[in-house]
Amino acid sequence: MKHLISPMDLTPEELSELLSLAQDIMKDPERYRHVCDGKKLATCFYEPSTRTRLSFESAMLNLGGSVLGFQSADSSSAAKGESVSDTIQIISYYADICAMRHPKEGAPYVASKHSRIPVINAGDGGHNHPTQTLTDLLTILELKGRLSDMTIGLCGDLKFGRTVHSLINAMVRYEGIKFILISPEELCIPAYLKEEVLDARGIPYKEVRSLDEVMPDLDILYMTRVQRERFFNEEDYIRLKNSFILTPEKMKLARDDMFVLHPLPRVNEISVEVDNDPRAAYFRQAGFGVYARMALIILMLGLKDRIPQV
Ligand code: CP
Repeated sequence: MKHLISPMDLTPEELSELLSLAQDIMKDPERYRHVCDGKKLATCFYEPSTRTRLSFESAMLNLGGSVLGFQSADSSSAAKGESVSDTIQIISYYADICAMRHPKEGAPYVASKHSRIPVINAGDGGHNHPTQTLTDLLTILELKGRLSDMTIGLCGDLKFGRTVHSLINAMVRYEGIKFILISPEELCIPAYLKEEVLDARGIPYKEVRSLDEVMPDLDILYMTRVQRERFFNEEDYIRLKNSFILTPEKMKLARDDMFVLHPLPRVNEISVEVDNDPRAAYFRQAGFGVYARMALIILMLGLKDRIPQV
């Protein structure tokens, strides 16, 4: 049994196998309809979610399995003071695999240490969101046909944005990746990511404060929301929330083969007028998340031998 807490828990070979399996499922979903018959996924969400929880549930149902769980701390015994480590020991009797989201960094890791079933980190505070990263990688692979040799612009809240942290960790393992980090100074990426990941690996990157100047250079623009729930101070949030807004005018500066991704939810950092641009890929990206999670569930439950041969 293995857990998925950080995107680095998957070796490049495992990641490649997972993405290839996800692409195969997309081509022929019917073949996978019964791979998880008799298996149960628990979704333990201590923090709100639309895409992650529902795409996990959709993934398990698509595979013939069942789902159970809770969607807020208030609707579980966490509201009575139960610890994550106690909860996961109980969930281990009820399900075969667990996807957990928690506002506290490290909570899914703590759960994994007390679990008898595989635990998947479905987002922990401002730390990591590895299954969003799987979704992002699958999306880039589908749109661009490669994961190497590209310039990726990461824009918005790079300080608290766990999807950005996970994506950087994953993308540095591919050849020819350059990052352009677009954020207000207060929301730049944490020092540990610069020093221990980008500098340590000699990955080219630059930090800028304006989107316009870099739009023509990008293969991928990864927009993120300024997350109100991560701020200690409402005034800071209000001052920073509209730092970057992607508009059709800004899109005119980009190449025809550039794609815009966003983990969503969006607030107003992408104008709705951009949605009709063929380069706006964020809704398709959310759809790819189901296939990435189907592949992950199959591999983590060790059910490859249940896939019917063609
Ligand atoms: N991308 C993402 O994690 O969305 P949700 O918060 O809706 O799950």
